[in-house]
Formats: sequence, structure tokens, C-alpha cells
Amino acid sequence: MNKALEVLASFKARFGTGASVYRAPGRVNLIGEHTDYNEGFVLPSAIGFSCWVGIASRKDRKLVLYSGNLGEGREADLDDLGNRGSGHWSDYPIGVAWALQAAGYRLKGADLYISGDVPLGAGLSSSAAIEVSTGYALLSAAGHAIDRTKLALLCQRAENEFVGARVGIMDQFVSCHGQAGHALLIDCRSLEYRAQKLPAKVKLVICNTMVKHKLQAGGEYNVRRAECEEAVRKLSAALPQVRSLRDVSSEELAQNRNLLSETLYRRCRHIITENKRVQDVAELFEQGKVVGLRELMAASHESMRDDYEISCRELDVMVEIAGRQLGVYGARMTGGGFGGCTINFVDAEHAAEFQARVSAEYETAIGLRPDIYICEASQGAELVEAAAENLTRVIR
Ligand code: GLA
Repeated sequence: MNKALEVLASFKARFGTGASVYRAPGRVNLIGEHTDYNEGFVLPSAIGFSCWVGIASRKDRKLVLYSGNLGEGREADLDDLGNRGSGHWSDYPIGVAWALQAAGYRLKGADLYISGDVPLGAGLSSSAAIEVSTGYALLSAAGHAIDRTKLALLCQRAENEFVGARVGIMDQFVSCHGQAGHALLIDCRSLEYRAQKLPAKVKLVICNTMVKHKLQAGGEYNVRRAECEEAVRKLSAALPQVRSLRDVSSEELAQNRNLLSETLYRRCRHIITENKRVQDVAELFEQGKVVGLRELMAASHESMRDDYEISCRELDVMVEIAGRQLGVYGARMTGGGFGGCTINFVDAEHAAEFQARVSAEYETAIGLRPDIYICEASQGAELVEAAAENLTRVIR
């Protein structure tokens, strides 16, 4: 069954009424890792995996939430949301309600049925998908128009402050603004972006290592952010105009190396060189070219492995295996790091063979069978079923 109709049917079974259904996608980042919180550049695409939210208003001020994935419900009072999550999945939707109301959007009580197919903990941003779909649903149910960039920023605020993860803007932004068949070149300082058509014959193939080194993924992400901030403080002694690593050139970094520890120097080198690679890849796509992509993707992976130190054995093995296959235009780890997925540009004609071979070789090397998804770049958040229409369709 179509996912929106499935959500409508489940909503009806649970809450007894019709609903509107909103969808927001997960994402894969093609290149530009950890550059977003350094006010740099990123190049992500929204993908076909999404979170769907069925919503209908209530007369009181309660949010009644139900997760179809977990088979579990939670209630919250819109007048008493608190300002900090408790480590429960409902922190995401409740945090979004909190951020929207804190920004002056008065919400209405509502029943919400939430169900998604973004693989959890795989670095494909199931969190942005649930945040953006709930935010869009809550705003619409309360009659507020959506400014997509503002919605992305408020979802990021929910994750930063309510959930407690200091993520950048990339995931929420592309979940709001994604375009089918395109990647978005986002300037994370100005939040201007350009939709960049992907070369026609290139498929986005995502290889899930099936590991997530959880402790590192959570703690080390925030450590990297703190290291970048410390580097900016140290560099600004000699370069007072520097507000973030976005403002530092490779030459300036080399000239001021003495201000930094070896570790901070390498963290900066990753961010500065990665920003340049993002723009180079976008330029290649602009020209419809794939020549040179392989080297840029390899350099990105090596920079994350050696300078930013966010890779792990499983990711390195996956990238190495992918690089040996026919029809591959480039491979690297994607997302926050310490497990999760790699992103591979693969010639459409070779995608199925790539999938079979990488799967077999990775399983032999690591002892885990990977999930490998051949993806399309997809549309950002949208209303997929409006309430009036769905009633008849569900009852039927
Ligand atoms: C996570 C964060 C993003 C970004 C990436 C790394 O996905 O949510 O903001 O920092 O890691 O590029």
C-alpha cells in the first residue's frame, strides 16, 4: 500500500478520524562533511526514505503522539512542554513544538501518528525527517504559513537545545528544500543555495556498514565542534577578521600553524580543504562532468580519516571495496562519522552489479551483510494527503 494511505488507515484505527499527512525526507550528503557548523559549504540530496506524519487537530491543548515504528505513544501539554528532552524518541516532535512556540507560533492541540522508513542510526538523518515532518504538520494544523528556511532553523534549534545534539543546519535544510534529481549547494553562512542537477547517468548508491560506534558518534561530534571553535579563537589572535573556519584560507592556516596544536591544525586543514572540494564537485556537476570526481571523493574520505579522525575500519573497508568496482565515479564516507554509510557515485548501468559485489566482498571482509540502497535524489517536505479527501479514501 502507498505509505500515505497506510498512515491514514493507521491514524483512523488509532484516533478514529481522518487526517492530513505530511512527509519529510532523510538525506545523504554527497560532499562537505562537518563544514556546516563552520559556516562553510555542503552538497546534500534529499532521498526517498522519509518520515510521514498523520495529523488532526484536537479541541484541547494536548499533543497525543504515536510512533508506528515503535508501537508506543506519548502525550504532552502544549502549555507545559518543558525545555529539555529526556532521551526518549518523543523529544524530537515535542522539541519541535517547543521551538515553534518559543518562536511565537501558537500551536493547536493535535493527534499525530508518526511512521518512517529512514534507517535509524545509519547517518541518513532520520532525526531531521521526523523534526521537519512534525514541524510542517503542526504549523499547518495551526494555520501558519511555512517559510522553509525558518522551519529548518527551528528544527535545528529543537535538536540543539531540546534534544541536546549540537548539529549544524544541513540535514534540516535539505529535508525542507530538497529537489528531485538535484543536490543542493548550500552556503551555511548566508543560507543561500543552488539546486544542482546531478549528472544523468550517475546513481547515488548508499552502502550501510551496519555499525554505529555510538559513544564516539555522540561525544566526538561535539568535541569536533569545540575544537573548531577553539581553533577560531586561537587564529583570530593573528587574523582578527576570522569569525569561523570558513574565513581562513589554506595560506593563512599555513602561516599561522604555530598558533595551533598539531590536532587543531589537522582539524582546520580538513574543514578548509573540504570547503574547496564541495565547490569543485558542484562545479563538475554544473558542467555535467564526472572526470575528476573520483579524486575529490577520495581526498574527502582521506581527510576525514586522517585529519578529522571520524572514520572507522568498516567505513574504510567499504570505501576501498567500492573503489575497485566497475562503473564507480567516487566513494567516501558520509554524515557525522564513526560508522553509518558511504556514498558512492555509480554509473546507472553498473549499479545492480556494484550492489551485489560490494555486498559480498564487505560481508567476507567484515562479517556483516550490508544494506545497499540505490537512491534517487528526492523532493523535500510536502503535504501528501489533505484531510477532506482522505476521509472517503480511508473509509472505503
Ligand atoms: C550530522 C549533522 C550535520 C553535519 C553532519 C556532518 O549529520 O547533523 O549538521 O554536521 O553530521 O557533515
